[in-house]
Amino acid sequence: MAVLFNQETQVFMLQTQHCAYQMKVAEYGVLLHLYYGQRIDDCDLSYLIQRTDRGFCGNPYEMQQDRTFSLDYFPQEYSCFGIGDYRTDCVKVINSDGSCAVDYRYDSYEIKKGKYRLEGLPSLFAEEEEGETLIIRMKDIHTHMMLELYYGVLENADVITRAARIINGGKAEVVLKRAMSMCLDFPHDHMDWIHFYGKHTMEREVERSRLIHGRQSICSERGTSSHQHNPFVILCDPMCSEDAGDCYGVGLIYSGSFLAEAEVDQFHQTRLVVGTSPDQFSWMLKPGEGFMTPEAVMIYSGEGFTSLSHRFHYMARKHLIRGEWAKKRRPILINNWEATYFNFNGEKLIRIAEEAKELGIEMLVLDDGWFGKRDSDYSGLGDWTVNEKKLGGTLKALAEKINSLGMKFGLWVEPEMISEDSNLYRSHPDWAMRIPGRPGNVARSQFVLDFSRPEVVDGIQDMIFKILDEVHIEYIKWDFNRSISNYFSATLPINRQGEIGYRYMLGLYRFLENLITRYPYILLEGCSGGGGRFDFGMLHYSPQIWCSDDTDAVERLKIHYGTTFGYPVSSIGAHVSASPNHQTGRHTPLETRGTVAMTGTFGYELDLGTLSAEEKEIVKRQIEEYKAHYDLINNGSFYRLSSPYGECRAVAWAFVSPDKEECLFCAVMTKLQSNPDGVVIKLKGLEPKRRYQVEDKVYTGEMLMYGGILLPLPKEEYQAWRYYMRAI
Ligand code: DGJ
Repeated sequence: MAVLFNQETQVFMLQTQHCAYQMKVAEYGVLLHLYYGQRIDDCDLSYLIQRTDRGFCGNPYEMQQDRTFSLDYFPQEYSCFGIGDYRTDCVKVINSDGSCAVDYRYDSYEIKKGKYRLEGLPSLFAEEEEGETLIIRMKDIHTHMMLELYYGVLENADVITRAARIINGGKAEVVLKRAMSMCLDFPHDHMDWIHFYGKHTMEREVERSRLIHGRQSICSERGTSSHQHNPFVILCDPMCSEDAGDCYGVGLIYSGSFLAEAEVDQFHQTRLVVGTSPDQFSWMLKPGEGFMTPEAVMIYSGEGFTSLSHRFHYMARKHLIRGEWAKKRRPILINNWEATYFNFNGEKLIRIAEEAKELGIEMLVLDDGWFGKRDSDYSGLGDWTVNEKKLGGTLKALAEKINSLGMKFGLWVEPEMISEDSNLYRSHPDWAMRIPGRPGNVARSQFVLDFSRPEVVDGIQDMIFKILDEVHIEYIKWDFNRSISNYFSATLPINRQGEIGYRYMLGLYRFLENLITRYPYILLEGCSGGGGRFDFGMLHYSPQIWCSDDTDAVERLKIHYGTTFGYPVSSIGAHVSASPNHQTGRHTPLETRGTVAMTGTFGYELDLGTLSAEEKEIVKRQIEEYKAHYDLINNGSFYRLSSPYGECRAVAWAFVSPDKEECLFCAVMTKLQSNPDGVVIKLKGLEPKRRYQVEDKVYTGEMLMYGGILLPLPKEEYQAWRYYMRAI
């Protein structure tokens, strides 16, 4: 049983293979959070809460003369604004009388087999025997506002999910100003927090800092999860390393604006709340209506970041990513973007496909520029009709030609956008998100379509589906190339404008769900100017996401490193591009570009015609190697062996098969030295006593893990090594 309730102690206990989570119904129905960490048996940990009269800490009225019970410092399961808990909170309600307070007290609970799902929002799925659901119902007896706290427990995966539904059980309208997905209170502040920040072309850099008094947060107000901050954070013991220590990862399964906020309070306790961003949010609840928050996924490990990441990777691969492409080997692709940008025609595309086929590439992806008036990024978005003049024929004919070469055909789209210079804009100017009377804010010369309006979503969906019905397209790259601003929806009433951001996401998710249901054979790759919407929400629809518009292999070392803390390698879109690199101007060996792109869903994005015969042989070998190691790379355990932020002159990582039979070790020398020191990298995850064949030598697992591998002396800058190891 993953969910237990002890009537006597009134303690709820959630248990997974390695961890436990505990909460208690205390006096007057206050729901206290007691514990999250290493697995323990049924018990009552409420003795850990210091009950004392603390200055300026008020008490619920019912406590009368008892001053030792205070919401001001007691750990809460879902903290409410306005009733004496001054820390960062989960829910803020403006009642019909104008007051801003809600006081949720325990009402009842329900335990169900199987994990709950959310309607219209992405959420983890599981077979009935793999999960259990706990719903705790709470009520504000004064206003009749109700709350349902959802807990999904996936025992084997060591996952606990949370979501909350806020319901107006009263007789008058109320306005919801804040509704977070989860709250986690810790009785101490011995904590670092790690978050993943960045910018366009440099996403998910790792930042670790000690929590300090007060609130520290990361957020996105951009309408997407964003390049700037990722909706995934880790709280950990200050001593926590890859291999040891307590750490807690929380990811939001949502792709819009979000907030992750940690607060250390006056008594050195820590609280973390994660959910949709409250800044642009308000939601009108009529009597009887409810609001469902997105789902948050929580994973704990007592054995450091590697094990935490392994659990997140397993969760994403098994319980989040869907469809046939979740398990099937994904085709090795050539994308024409960095090869041609907008400057292509049908002939050029066929030449690229022929060259690619020769080398073993399996799919051509036609990127931006094939539709409407789209020879630059100044026009055409929204006009999803094929530019047959440019292609020299129909898209269907082009796809058939590519297919006749024995290759699959994939297509780029950016359905959520509209160019001012487009027929769509001329006929539906109000579909663009713009505040009346203001010129608005253009980015890449485009506006965002108002996907909070169902008719806008349907209009674009019809155009895209018409193409997909006519042409045999087996892959879609779904792009999104600006941040949202100037929120306004022409059809929403004035007092509901705060609902746009969340309604937008519902519209987007509906479109994506329709797409994958109607065309289950299509492999969807998410993209937002690279990795601007790299999150667990998008992964529910697209098994892979273009990780960054930065294709520089050396910068990608950092981007991949940060991304793998939460996300599996099978989700990381990575391509070999030209040298010098188009974003940085850096020269790197082709083998290095191959090695780095193999930490992901492998492909090429360069003019293959410019490669020498020798380089073409390298490409052929890379493709063979990637295919041979596909399972190991995409379903094996991923180990970060040396950090791009560390002292070591090489960045190294490895993939180990679940049975520890095979390992692929990769390293890139990032810093050259004259008269160089030796660089030794220690492997992880092998069987100590087993013998592994590495090229023409044999080592035991313990030699490789405790002694390590001595990298050869580099012959050039950014040299890479890949060693395949097999147990003998
Ligand atoms: C941004 C993407 O990330 C690129 O790969 C490319 O598809 C361009 N958009 C096309 O406009």
